[in-house]
Amino acid sequence: MSDVQEATKQLLDVNLHENWRAIQVTESDPRSESEHLQVTIGATVPTGFEQTAADEVREKLGSSCKISKDRGKIYFDISVESLAQVHCLRSVDNLFVVVKEFKDYQFKETKEEVLKDFEELAGKLPWSDPLKVWKINTSFKKKKTKRKKINQNSGREKIDNGQGDKTDEKEDKKGFTNNTLDSHILDYYENPAIKEEISTLVGDDLASSKDEKDEKEETHPKVLKFRVTCNRAGEKHCFSSNEAARDFGGAVQDYFKWKADMTNFDVEVLLNIHDNEIVVGIALTEESLHRRNITHFGPTTLRSTLAYGMLRLCAPQPADIIVDPMCGTGAIPIEGATEWSNCYHIAGDNNPLAVNRAANNISSLLTKSQIKEGKVSWSLPIDAVQWDICNLPLRTGSVDIIVTDMPFGKRMGSKKRNWNLYPACLREMSRVCKPGTGRAALLTQDKKCFTKALSGLGHVWRKAHTVWVNIGGLHAAVYLLKRTPQAFVHPSEQDGERTPW
Ligand SMILES: C[S@@+](CC[C@H](N)C(=O)[O-])C[C@H]1O[C@@H](n2cnc3c(N)ncnc32)[C@H](O)[C@@H]1O
Repeated sequence: MSDVQEATKQLLDVNLHENWRAIQVTESDPRSESEHLQVTIGATVPTGFEQTAADEVREKLGSSCKISKDRGKIYFDISVESLAQVHCLRSVDNLFVVVKEFKDYQFKETKEEVLKDFEELAGKLPWSDPLKVWKINTSFKKKKTKRKKINQNSGREKIDNGQGDKTDEKEDKKGFTNNTLDSHILDYYENPAIKEEISTLVGDDLASSKDEKDEKEETHPKVLKFRVTCNRAGEKHCFSSNEAARDFGGAVQDYFKWKADMTNFDVEVLLNIHDNEIVVGIALTEESLHRRNITHFGPTTLRSTLAYGMLRLCAPQPADIIVDPMCGTGAIPIEGATEWSNCYHIAGDNNPLAVNRAANNISSLLTKSQIKEGKVSWSLPIDAVQWDICNLPLRTGSVDIIVTDMPFGKRMGSKKRNWNLYPACLREMSRVCKPGTGRAALLTQDKKCFTKALSGLGHVWRKAHTVWVNIGGLHAAVYLLKRTPQAFVHPSEQDGERTPW
């Protein structure tokens, strides 16, 4: 029996009734069959933070990473025993196991020929090991949630980590508002190459010729349900992602005899095309891992994965005091408190609604963790306060690290107001931050205003590094600043007017 036939048989054996996962893991634990299996894992990460993610993978899994030229993706090899650890990475959004990578795929001249090749490809790929990994992975995945169609998704702002309104505009422009997309695709869409075209094999198209036999199968499901998602980026393709997903998906269906289902699938096959590089993979996450901490969303909630990247840039050390003075829902300090629990984190905002959301998020996380750990006394090293960043109730030189996501002046605040806010907050941050050792990672899309404000404060802040990031389609920057050794002298202190905190 060939590898592929064997894998198919294994998969067709899976019982797809409600409790199928429990049955498969106990009856025939695929882990025992797959010890020492080596596979390549692909991960989508916040654009600009590929190197941070690669560092995390090396540190936690001991694997070196290949950073894809398709921005926002990394690849690394693991032994399948490390799969659970892969799900604990903090910098990755979505995970997939690589079936095959084509570094220099030769596309034929015409669309018909290219699509024919995609059809033939399905039967030639080494599916066996990736499918074993997929099977093992089902025991690590979050409980399956029913996917919502985009145009029914009332919680849109929940998945918008950006500050502009561009995500909606782009979807509308690209005609992606039809009900074939769901929030999972939006994760890809928000993420790296926003120019990517994303299409999914439409289950309804393939299933439209349902006959009576199909109806019966619905009540007694025996076969796996799947969908194919194609992410295409690059100018020179003579086909659309929709056509690639449709034809490749049709061939996958014929090959495995799986059933196409857009919203309630078991296997998601990914066809990532970037110029002449193709990666075929199988998704290992149903929902982006960046949603881990937040239950009470705000208008500009930041991805936890991006929050992790910003915190990591500042290299927190034990006992550091880390402050987010414009915390919104608290995404940054909450990520900080869970990952750097040997530091103390303070979340502040001038908007009482934001402080309330941050407090609720802390509270939900505490409850969740207490249940998980089984300890009532479990706590997080974090506090939420209402304050104005221009006049912080913190002692001069008392803070080690400031990590914050500043109002871009689009959805939050206004560009005009930023001209006063940015210099004032950079000055106040320089006051509370420890001279010589203090550092700050500040995210903004209002680069012009930020650069101007910083130029007047060169004696207290030195720009060490800039990470360019894509936030919901907006070109933004994370500035890593180092506090110079120069002591802070506030103008009003000179006049003897300032409150002596
Ligand atoms: C971009 S949002 C932060 C979003 C946050 N990272 C999150 O995940 O929800 C900027 C925040 O700055 C706050 N803000 C604006 N002006 C402020 C000020 N003078 N003092 C403190 N916070 C301020 C806003 O209320 C808003 O919550």
